[in-house]
Amino acid sequence: MPSTTQLDPALIPAQLEAAHIPLIDFGPFLHGTPAERDATARQIGEACRQIGFFYIINHGIPAQLIADTYAQAKRFFALPAAQKAEIAIEKSACHRGWFQIGGENLDPAKQKAAGDLKEGIKIGRDLGPDHPLVLAQTPLHGPNQWPANLPGWRETMQTYYDALTTLGRTMMHAFAMALNLPETYFDAWLTTPMTTLGPLHYPPQTGRITEAQIGAGAHTDYGCLTLLAQDSSGGLQVRTKSGTWIEAPPFPNSFVVNIGDMMERWTNNEFTSTPHRVINISGRERYSLPFFFDPNFHTPITSLTPNPIHPPTTAGQHLLDMINASFSYHQSKMNEESAT
Ligand code: OGA
Ligand code: NI
Repeated sequence: MPSTTQLDPALIPAQLEAAHIPLIDFGPFLHGTPAERDATARQIGEACRQIGFFYIINHGIPAQLIADTYAQAKRFFALPAAQKAEIAIEKSACHRGWFQIGGENLDPAKQKAAGDLKEGIKIGRDLGPDHPLVLAQTPLHGPNQWPANLPGWRETMQTYYDALTTLGRTMMHAFAMALNLPETYFDAWLTTPMTTLGPLHYPPQTGRITEAQIGAGAHTDYGCLTLLAQDSSGGLQVRTKSGTWIEAPPFPNSFVVNIGDMMERWTNNEFTSTPHRVINISGRERYSLPFFFDPNFHTPITSLTPNPIHPPTTAGQHLLDMINASFSYHQSKMNEESAT
């Protein structure tokens, strides 16, 4: 931590509790016997019920692909703002493109003066005008905005996107087994999953730091599951059930996996969507590659078990509600639309 950095006491994580976030070897689920697969799914289920966070290793995504994706993300973030603004998210009808520092506020309840101290890119399923979901004007569906003049950028991002979509589907198989459902239970809702790759750049933060502005304000993720690659900077914190903030330190070649609100709702709170936040006090630029995996837009999110705690919704409506709460440009757009 640079010597000029002073963390508000509320932002200091408890030490040595990383064991609360289990590290799970996913290899046996990908390649093992039925008994090994079942045992891995049970470990995952346990983590989803307890802290809602776990690491996976041996996930099958090549280290080189992850490194290439970071390199391309950094290349984009290093461009002059005017060039990044060519693919500004405000220009997209389906929430794709670049948002500047402060453009997203993951902790809107705090009514912070400033948004999060990070910039990012949203890359989704790249659909042309003739795709049935686009023809039907389904919200959040349409083309990506790709930066011009960055050879190889699109190809790398698309390769990573496709690989993580496959991993997300496989993880949903593990979730189904952990919930004592048939392995392919969710597959019918995963034909055109709403999957988003959202590379992030967190500038280093120094000086006096309070909850008014940090890298990513305390939040739960909106969707079903998140597969996060983080660089070696550290700074990700997770809130345990007892209310203590603990660190989720970088672990080589791992993904941090966590449950989002939609999966919590779908499982009638059996799986836990856990608050987390990011504070980059490493003194360096921090980069991360979150990948959000959500089912088809029209998926009914109704409790999988009796006595539902939440009213039914759909995956699409749930996401729209959440994006509207966190992105200032989206709020003004929605207000304009309802005024006209
Ligand atoms: C998120 C998130 C963590 C990180 O984007 O929802 O929690 O390390 N990101 O960037
Ligand atoms: Ni998150």
